[in-house]
Parts: sequence; structure tokens; C-alpha cells
Amino acid sequence: MVPNEIKELCDNTLDFAQGQVKKLITNHPDYFPLYTEGGKWKHDKQAWTNWCEGFLAGMIWVFAERSGEAWWKQQAIHYSNLLEDRQFDREVHDLGFVFWSSWRRWLALTDDAAEKERINKVIIQAGKTMGLRFNEKGRYLRSFVAPESCFIDIMMNVGIIFYAAQQSGDEALLNLVTEHCLTTRRYLVRGDGSTAHEGLFNLETGEFIRQSTHQGWRDDSSWARGQAWALYGFGTVYSYTKDKRFLDTAQRCADFYIDRTPSHGVPPNDWEEEGGCEFESSAAAISAGGFLQLSQLTPDPERSKKYHNYALTIVQTLCERGFVASDTPGWEGILMHGSYHETLNLGVQQSVMWGEYFFVDILDQLSKGGRFIG
Ligand code: GLY
Repeated sequence: MVPNEIKELCDNTLDFAQGQVKKLITNHPDYFPLYTEGGKWKHDKQAWTNWCEGFLAGMIWVFAERSGEAWWKQQAIHYSNLLEDRQFDREVHDLGFVFWSSWRRWLALTDDAAEKERINKVIIQAGKTMGLRFNEKGRYLRSFVAPESCFIDIMMNVGIIFYAAQQSGDEALLNLVTEHCLTTRRYLVRGDGSTAHEGLFNLETGEFIRQSTHQGWRDDSSWARGQAWALYGFGTVYSYTKDKRFLDTAQRCADFYIDRTPSHGVPPNDWEEEGGCEFESSAAAISAGGFLQLSQLTPDPERSKKYHNYALTIVQTLCERGFVASDTPGWEGILMHGSYHETLNLGVQQSVMWGEYFFVDILDQLSKGGRFIG
């Protein structure tokens, strides 16, 4: 149950978001930014890796559905088609981000049987391509940085592999993606429910060596966005597998997030870093979606209520406490105070494309009454 005042807040914020995205795609056609610099999308700072293209297409699909306007639908199809070749991309571990945000929405919104078949084929191929990242010895999907590296972020990309395995009846794919999740659960999720960004493995033997980080503060600290990917991703895996171990992991990650975050629900970039950025709004936006999902997965009514209300708290904070750029003239993004990579000084306290997408996504879900759409 979403109170009417929250629905209204979501609708008003979505109107602002729609205007910002319209300006982005009309001012910079076919441009897929990752983060703003000084509030502007167009700059020449590095990408580090290419993983955000589906988020822009995904937001355009949200606005196509909400507005019912042909212009938005044309843009959504155009921006999605620009991604089609990525179904074969072996360079990144992010094909869930690329295709689940964009082509999966297209699949849900088209009634044309032939078009549905074409779209589904692309999504399945993207899931199969992700499966090719599997390291047999270590039993994990490798990250984009190195064969010996497994990222917590990959948990948010495995849903598309489960989907591809189910759609194509591919048992081997189902087994390997399940093994990846169990490996991540064992080595990247700690006893207190916190997560490490990265696990490093011995390529000869598959032995786990140590935890590490790129975007968090230290190897043994807790990077908030990684936590968001984990609590959301393990929940998604539970929804596919109904394996209670994954629900338990998602809940432990969620509870760590709640315990360590101020009551407004927006975490810092890293919970252990003293003097770091106070806010990482994209982790909050992602987590709101993860909490909403968990509220509908958990069999415990008290927990369900707690997660549901926490999702609402996060959204209310983001909408009402100066995170939305509506009062910041000239800022081209929707949500401010996100951070991409503090160590490399990329997109620190800026708008970040995944923060925009997951914010728009949770606003849209709550505006529709709060049923998790996935
Ligand atoms: N590398 C994905 C992220 O920044 O969360």
C-alpha cells in the first residue's frame, strides 16, 4: 500500500525526470553518458567501463509507457536498437544492466508476436554471452577487470542469465549461474551481512585468495553501492530459484544496510570511511528497489512491512531533501549526490546514469501502487 501523498510525490518527480531526459536526448542525440561533470552530461572524462547504455534506454521506455506518446516510443525503440550488438559483448560483466533495463521493458510493452520473438532472442543471447565469463576452477563469472576477479556488482546482472537458462532450457547455464551466486555468497558476503566489492582467485587452482575493492574505501570496508547490488541481486536470484539460502543472504545484506545507515536511508559511499562523502544517492535509489522487491519475497509479515516502509523512506528522502536537481538551475541530471569512482575521481557527487534509472524505476513502481515489477 503506497499512501497517496507518496504517489503524488513520485508523479511530480517523474514529471521533472521526464523533462531532464527529454533535454538530454534532444541536446545530445545518440549519446550515452555515464555521469555528469559539474552537473553537465557532456564532458571528456573517462568511462572506466561501458555499462550504462541500457539505463538511458530504460528510462525512455518508462516515459513511453507513462505518456503513451508516439515520440517517446520511437525514441525508446531507437535507443534500444542502438544496443543490439551488445548481446555479443564479451568485454563487460554488465549485460544484465544493458538489456534488462531496456530490451526487457520493450518485450513487456509490445504485443506484436514477431517483434516479441526477436526481442526475446536478443535478451536470451545476452544472458548466454554473460555465461561465457564462467571460470571453471573458481566457479565464478569473472569481472571486466581481470580473469581472477569477481565483483559483487555481477549479482545484479545474473537475473538475465537465469532468464536465458529458463527460456532455453539450458541446464548447464542454470548450474553455472547458480554456482556463481553460491561462490559470491561464500566469499564476498561477510558474517555481518556486509559485502566486499571484489574477490580475487588463483587462476591455476581456483583457490579464493582475498577480498579487494575498486570503488570502496578499503579492501575490508563496506562500499554502499556494492551492498545495494547484493541486497537487490540476491533477492532476484531467490525469485528465480526459490532457494532459501539466497533469500537469507539478501535479507542479511538488507539488514546491514538498515543498521548502518542514518534513518533517512541514504548511505555514504562507504560505511567505514571517516570523512568520506556523506551521501551516495545512487546506492539509495538502487536499494529502494531492492527493499521493495524483498518486501514482496519475504514470508515474514513484520520484515515485509519493515522493508516496504524503508523503501518509502528512501524515496521520500531523495525527493524531499535536496537530492533532486529541480531547484538547481543548469544541473542536467535528475538525482544529485551520486558517486561513481572516488579513488579515480570520476563522477564524485554528481548525477550518475544508473542512479537516474533506478530512481525513475522505483518512482514508477510506487506511482503504480508499489507492486514490484522487476
Ligand atoms: N561498476 C559498477 C558500479 O559502479 O556500481
